[in-house]
Amino acid sequence: MVCLGNICRSPSAQGVLEQRLQQAGLQRCVHVDSAGTGDYHIGKPPDERAQQHAARRGIDLSRQRARQLGRRDFDDFDLVLVMDEANERDASALCPPGQRHKLRRLTDFCTRHSASAVPDPYYGGAAGFEAALDLIEDACDGLLAALRPATAGC
Ligand code: 4NP
Repeated sequence: MVCLGNICRSPSAQGVLEQRLQQAGLQRCVHVDSAGTGDYHIGKPPDERAQQHAARRGIDLSRQRARQLGRRDFDDFDLVLVMDEANERDASALCPPGQRHKLRRLTDFCTRHSASAVPDPYYGGAAGFEAALDLIEDACDGLLAALRPATAGC
């Protein structure tokens, strides 16, 4: 899961997907991580507001720490899911030519919302964090369904 700062959207997406995997008994089958394209917040826990909004949905982000996306992530992971167009452009600049198929928008997996990005809630208010979580939950449900064949028998 990749956003700009790795303190709002991508840690929330990591937390939501981990919760869904746990509920499905697939937590040992899929490794989830998150990173930011920027380096501003490396080592910091998620934004307090992101933590509070996620906690209200039963998701604990407090143990996560921000890190920066690197070229190696494209070798280490099967999917690199970005939140918006700027993330896609920045991640694309790091992506080795043979790994382009791994780079996708998280919103590609939404089934209940029609959206092409998870908007950045950092400079907004509570409604932005709720809207981001609504999109992220929708996408993670769709992603879990898309991962079913690959996790069958795990
Ligand atoms: P995120 O939100 O990309 O969802 O983690 C942001 C966090 C910090 C900044 C921008 C976006 N910032 O400019 O510091």
